[in-house]
Amino acid sequence: MRSAAVGILGTGKHVPDRVLTNRDLERMVDTSDEWIVTRTGIRERRIASYEEAASDLALPAAREALGKAGISASDLDLIIVATITPDMAFPSTACVVQHKLGATRAAAFDLSAACSGFVYGLANAYAYVSAGLGKYVLVIGAEVLSKVTDYRDRSTCILFGDGAGAAVVGPVPEGRGFRSFVLGADGSGGDLLYLAGGGSRLPASEQTVKEGKHYIHMEGGEVFKFAVRVMGQAAEEALAKAGLRKEDVDLLVPHQANIRIIRSALERLGLPEEKCAINVDRYGNVSAASIPIALAEAVDAGRVRENDCVVMVGFGGGLTWAASVLIW
Ligand code: ACO
Repeated sequence: MRSAAVGILGTGKHVPDRVLTNRDLERMVDTSDEWIVTRTGIRERRIASYEEAASDLALPAAREALGKAGISASDLDLIIVATITPDMAFPSTACVVQHKLGATRAAAFDLSAACSGFVYGLANAYAYVSAGLGKYVLVIGAEVLSKVTDYRDRSTCILFGDGAGAAVVGPVPEGRGFRSFVLGADGSGGDLLYLAGGGSRLPASEQTVKEGKHYIHMEGGEVFKFAVRVMGQAAEEALAKAGLRKEDVDLLVPHQANIRIIRSALERLGLPEEKCAINVDRYGNVSAASIPIALAEAVDAGRVRENDCVVMVGFGGGLTWAASVLIW
């Protein structure tokens, strides 16, 4: 990577007020708090209201990130929204956010890489700023997974939640900023995790709705095996690319899908749980929003100090994976 110092200037997050607990789910499907906690580490998740779309969650997160970065919306050159639950097929959720923020100078597009989307977005932002195409890029991960979750399917409905996280990417002092990115995809695993209905392959119809094609479908066990393999691997590769060692890591910010997947990554990296941002217990899996929410919370809690080595790593539908090493 070029040595141009580009990093994160500010972070923000927003989650809806409504809490859906494991006890609530016990009343909806044949499951138990004990099963969910043991198998996933999730205790509760946030659920958007009927009126709330991805952009409504993205906006407060974006405003917070801009405030912390000390720049205004009119300074932005580009807005990237990573999401698999956009407000609508088009215009992009990024364009909705651009308008509502008043970021009149900014280009805007959505990015689809499922749970890896935020780190994919950071890589795009880094490249954009490094290449001199712009100075400030707002990257948002925003999801309303509750709208595409079948609350009769106990194997998926216990996992997902709603929320948004954001980061402003721009110039930082020399010696700090992004050190490496590892992005990957394996489209041959696309049938393990998908939402088939409503696209050009299977346009929305009475039949697709009847067959539940507008809900997330997941082969949980296979995704689990893939995740365990790829999380540690991608993080190790990103560290090697950055010329750093596992012992150099101050904070790991992993995708929050399942505490067992997070623990396996920690084990492979030889890191204690204190060096990991974990909120899967409170929010469940928020796809592209998981990593930026966890990062924003870690920053707010004072867990990230100047010159700390932060590693972000995620995996998701596609299949996709992504990792990045950043000196804060
Ligand atoms: N409550 C009680 N029992 C359940 C539940 C539930 N909510 N869900 C499944 N079970 C049952 C199954 O029916 C099965 O019963 P059986 O043995 O009688 O058939 C048993 O529990 C074991 O099921 P498994 O699927 O083997 O359970 P596992 O330990 O693999 O946990 C889980 C399932 C939590 C889904 C796990 O596989 C997982 O976390 N996978 C990864 C998911 C993930 O990370 N997805 C990311 C996608 S994000 C994105 O890109 C949108």
